[in-house]
Amino acid sequence: MSEDIDSIVRRALERPRNLSVSDLTRLISLEDREERQAVFSAAYGLKCRVAGKRVSLRGLVEIGNVCAKDCLYCGIRRSNAAVERYRLSVDDVLRMAEVDAQAGYASIVLQGGEIESEANTSFIEACLHGMAHLNLGITLSLGEQSEETYRRWKAAGASRYLLRIETSSPELYARLHPADHSWTRRVACLDALRRCGYQVGTGVMSALPGQTAEDLARDIVFFGEKDVDMIGMGPYIPHPDTPLAAQPQAWDAAGRLRVGLNMIAATRLYLHDVNIAATTALQALAPDGREQGILAGANVMMPNVTDVVYRRQYQLYAGKPCLDENAQTSREHLERQLAAIGERINYGERGDSAHFAARTTRTSR
Ligand code: 5AD
Repeated sequence: MSEDIDSIVRRALERPRNLSVSDLTRLISLEDREERQAVFSAAYGLKCRVAGKRVSLRGLVEIGNVCAKDCLYCGIRRSNAAVERYRLSVDDVLRMAEVDAQAGYASIVLQGGEIESEANTSFIEACLHGMAHLNLGITLSLGEQSEETYRRWKAAGASRYLLRIETSSPELYARLHPADHSWTRRVACLDALRRCGYQVGTGVMSALPGQTAEDLARDIVFFGEKDVDMIGMGPYIPHPDTPLAAQPQAWDAAGRLRVGLNMIAATRLYLHDVNIAATTALQALAPDGREQGILAGANVMMPNVTDVVYRRQYQLYAGKPCLDENAQTSREHLERQLAAIGERINYGERGDSAHFAARTTRTSR
């Protein structure tokens, strides 16, 4: 291993946020097998120190694909007329929450297209009230909303919120979204979530057209500046019915997987105690992509517990895995794959962010 990688890793392990943009850029750009292995094993060691040899699960419920946004990369963008739109009912959501609780996942994510309306806000409140008795850690991933809406959902029982910034570069953001989508508002939403007392998650896509390794390094610094508790990020995968897919793509599948894993490892080495998800986009690129994500430093997985009839309609990118797998087979499958890498499922534990615990104890003293 080259000396500089060795010294970057050593410095990273000394304390959180101990790397420069150029150190992070170096880690994110790594292609050499041995060097990547060394970086992954250091990041995995940190993951084990923070979270043990355990993976926390959150069942993912895709509550609807109606979306007001028109992001140029996303399969459920407003202008994609090829998608059949659906919205689950409160009963549907509660049925899937029962499946999640019975599987022992102890946490759930309600994710869906962005809708800002009183009807939607109270629909989510009804779901939250209806699942209160299940005692799950509840994450919402429902896009940009007013601070008032975030407050209402928090009061109704949600404790975590995921809102990816997609990229920390306002210029790149502007190239990936229509003119009326605002990077500044998205950042303001992250700040509002923090004020509301959520465990706040954000993240980015990697391997985007026009994105450099330095952009990605700055993304990781942004996570640190925002002091977030959870990270969900994954490689961009073109969706044929979107404008971005027509642009020249700088990355092949192997490159996307490589940079996605490098990002996980670099983020763990920089932030130490946050929850990091090994996302489904990794699994779309390799059958064991999520397990590789764990071995690169992630500690969370989000198995899909949405009824299989809806999964085809919630395709953000091409090649979404597990379109036909029900919650039961997916759990058995996951258990086997994790056992193969010496990891166990954190059954019955909510798996809250250690970073959140540390920062809230700090401020309440
Ligand atoms: N490839 C990978 N990830 C995507 N997302 C949306 N479209 C794509 C795509 N084509 C991600 C975005 C969004 C999350 C729900 O899915 O980061 O925040």
